[in-house]
Amino acid sequence: MRTVVEIKKGVHWVGAVDWHVRDFHGYSVDKGSTYNSYLVMDDKVTLFDAVKKPFKSDMLHNIYKVIDPGKIDYLVVNHVEPDHSGSIPEIIEAIKPEKVFCSSRGKKALLDHYHRDDWPYEIVESGQEISIGKRTITFLETRMLHWPDSMFSYIKEESLLISSDAFGQHWATSERFNDQVDSSELMAHAVKYYANILLPYSGLVQKLIAEVKKMNIKIDMIAPDHGLIWREDPLQIVEAYDKWSKQGCKRKALIIYDTMWHSTEMMAKAIADGLIESGISVKLMNLACDHRSDVITEMIDSKAVILGSPTLNNGMLPRMADMLCYMKGLRPINKFGAAFGSYGWSGEAVKQLAKSLEEMKMKLFGAGINLQFVPNHEGLKKCVDLGREIAAAIKDSVPV
Ligand code: FEO
Repeated sequence: MRTVVEIKKGVHWVGAVDWHVRDFHGYSVDKGSTYNSYLVMDDKVTLFDAVKKPFKSDMLHNIYKVIDPGKIDYLVVNHVEPDHSGSIPEIIEAIKPEKVFCSSRGKKALLDHYHRDDWPYEIVESGQEISIGKRTITFLETRMLHWPDSMFSYIKEESLLISSDAFGQHWATSERFNDQVDSSELMAHAVKYYANILLPYSGLVQKLIAEVKKMNIKIDMIAPDHGLIWREDPLQIVEAYDKWSKQGCKRKALIIYDTMWHSTEMMAKAIADGLIESGISVKLMNLACDHRSDVITEMIDSKAVILGSPTLNNGMLPRMADMLCYMKGLRPINKFGAAFGSYGWSGEAVKQLAKSLEEMKMKLFGAGINLQFVPNHEGLKKCVDLGREIAAAIKDSVPV
């Protein structure tokens, strides 16, 4: 995919589309991704960000359609994670820039990755402006969104915010703008991206939104480094980030389970019955079928997280251990938690699940339900009752 798009007069998308990537350090990217970079034609020709290493030829080919890469003066590195910097050694070799702009942490990260102290680094700070001719670039450091080195670049004459990882989506498309694709599919990719990448930094997202509002800048386009560019109503994604970062919940419960011989699954369905009959929206996710990153996406607006696993070799099933490791790292807040599972003779899994929920500061409903072998009617009734109890608590705490 090598189609250059002029996103504003003199500003070109020269990135790459990765149709075939399916895993992004544990996050399933079922529809691929893009690595966006932007070339601004001005007195000082400026390139913003680069692409993953295997896509360097796509990017260079795109640049050649606009200008000889050797005529690029400045390279701005908004973020050093290798999906944006992997090709930088070859790109720098090709363009031989006069300056490489990055944050102080960006310089350290570039040195730590590529071990090149001969590049013409120029460290910039939040609020600093540089002129590239008719245009001015203002930098805004956005530490931990997504890495300590991250920053935004804002071009005021274009009202264009180049936002690095923030506001992106992992979605490979031939279209480049949000108004060219189905908006509900776009938002589904955007929320999955937020839930799997930015959720642990939600407090920082809140601060950043406040800071950008205080800057009182005009934004009529947001160009992230992944996915579609927000051209139509660009602030809708800022409003969505405001909502997601507050981690408000709906009257919704998420039941996440794995099962060995379907006993734990019977319990999951019975808990769901108790919730559904009480008017709570329920999502059942079986870790044998549902990927951890889709589970996290469903969790973002769920008030209750209910975990089920049978006991295997004195512990939980391995897919549940994987899920918990991932979930703890993403640091969800404001949730109720509950645990359940079936066992044969020892039954440690439920206790372990409850402990993990407690470590994530979720409000627990007792010690959980642990049933031996195949649940009978009485056991399933306990599960339905747990569902009802959780439903009542959700109704008390989440307004309609
Ligand atoms: Fe798209 Fe944090 O890299």
